[in-house]
Amino acid sequence: MAERRTAAWYAGTDRDAYIHRAWMRRGIPDDSFTGRPHIAICNTASDLSPCNAHLNQVSAAVKNGIWAAGGVPLDMPIISLGETQLRPTAMLFRNLAAMAAEELIRANPVDGVVLLGGCDKTVPSLLMGAASVDLPTIMLNGGPMLTGNYRGRPMGCGTDIWRLSEEMRGGALSVADFVASEQDMIRSAGHCNTMGTASTMGIMAEALGMTLPGSAGTPAPDARLLKFAHATGRRIVEMVDEDLKPSHILTRAAFLNAIVALAAVGGSTNAVVHLLAIAGRVGADLKLTDFDEHGSHLPLLVNLQPAGKYLMDDLFRAGGLLAVLNQVRDLLSDDAITVTGQPLSSHLDGHEISDSAVIATRDHPVQAEAGIAVLRGNLAPDGAIIKPAAASPGLLTHRGRAVVFENIEDLHARIDDPDLDIDQTCVIVLRGAGPKGYPGMPEVANTPLPAKLLAKGVRDMVRICDGRMSGTAYGTVVLHVCPEAAAGGPLGKVRDGDFIVLDVPNRTLRLDVADDELAEREVSPRTAATFAEPSRGYERLYLNHVMQADTGADLDFLVGSSGSAVPRESH
Ligand code: FES
Repeated sequence: MAERRTAAWYAGTDRDAYIHRAWMRRGIPDDSFTGRPHIAICNTASDLSPCNAHLNQVSAAVKNGIWAAGGVPLDMPIISLGETQLRPTAMLFRNLAAMAAEELIRANPVDGVVLLGGCDKTVPSLLMGAASVDLPTIMLNGGPMLTGNYRGRPMGCGTDIWRLSEEMRGGALSVADFVASEQDMIRSAGHCNTMGTASTMGIMAEALGMTLPGSAGTPAPDARLLKFAHATGRRIVEMVDEDLKPSHILTRAAFLNAIVALAAVGGSTNAVVHLLAIAGRVGADLKLTDFDEHGSHLPLLVNLQPAGKYLMDDLFRAGGLLAVLNQVRDLLSDDAITVTGQPLSSHLDGHEISDSAVIATRDHPVQAEAGIAVLRGNLAPDGAIIKPAAASPGLLTHRGRAVVFENIEDLHARIDDPDLDIDQTCVIVLRGAGPKGYPGMPEVANTPLPAKLLAKGVRDMVRICDGRMSGTAYGTVVLHVCPEAAAGGPLGKVRDGDFIVLDVPNRTLRLDVADDELAEREVSPRTAATFAEPSRGYERLYLNHVMQADTGADLDFLVGSSGSAVPRESH
């Protein structure tokens, strides 16, 4: 057996090994330092990250599995990002959390890693950080919460908030009823139960091969989550002995499998920026156009909010991700292995659909074509994306007059102004919401519609933004416009009254302004004036180094891997 990485800390009789061992002797067995693999459990439990608050219980079950397999489990808290709580936006800190995970894994005496995430940014940040170290790694998602219930009607976390708040603003729902529904939405531990970003990233982790097959989407309160936790603990010990690393698993083929899964489940647009960032850490050849080329013509098989009706515990009882993937088995690459050492497709036998209202068959899909469409044109030279399954079909080809907002505050201040010159054929342009412009690329692209149009029954309009959209949201929203306005992109040159042409079937997004006129236009002075330049701290570092969305919005110096070499001794 090859020498453990931890031997660099614990082997020998010198003073340094004495120090390393002595400080760890707090109840662990004496033979813990004689070659048993030490496993860090990167635990993002936090009371301020409520979707992950139950992960200490999950960690305990993982620990039992590690002990049972002969390893030594070590809880290692990692920066946790509570999507609903963090200001100005959790996305600003995804790269900080990834950097913390990477540095802590590398700096500590560990041979293998278990990643425990759940809420939106915790899964991608852990995968990014662990990929850049490349020790044997397995992930377990904390699972979705149970379905909410408001006055006898199932309630989806996130999606129904957007729906109810629009109904309230349009006068169809009283403020008292809106507030009353708040009590009924969150019934249990776990992350959002729609096919939002957290559910999507849990599924992406499994489709990439980084979790035990079948574990994604196990509801947080379900006893089977703890069974998977125990099995995850056992498996990481074996993976250390097999030296099975993220670089063996996270290949281009694995990312293309994830794109197939993303389309089949109708996953969040946020997966695009996260998968690109993870791929960047392992050098996998993944481009924005891959999402369109390999995913946009695939059928939508899962009838979940926000595109459909059901919620995550429905998906799990209907057969879960493996039943979905069994329907598109022929599209999955056998070249990509999972944490089991076997291809994902080898784990699909016997996984059938048990409720075809939730999971559709390939022959009778929920929609014939799902996935992400990548748009280009003079308004998005480096690309923009749209999720056609969540859009209004009648708006996928549209020409409309631009109504421009410089930032989210400008939008909030004016969107409900009765004198705002806007009708339902207009195109709402929101800029100043990209990685640099906000900064942090918040989920604001699914802008509220003007109250006066809501009152007339309008429920969707074309919206264009350099920011992101919540995975629980829906609408005809063009996102991730690159380059963003703050990076000098043409979105910053749009003026009120310009006409914009959206043509999703032909994948174009165009400002109907002559090329020479557009070239001569400066970025709007109002736009430039809204960009706040932080003077210090992490935000300053972020602003200096963040990349655009089409390459994952990672920090440029974090792309790639520094490996797991043992750092120098300081004693
Ligand atoms: Fe945590 Fe939605 S807020 S998953």
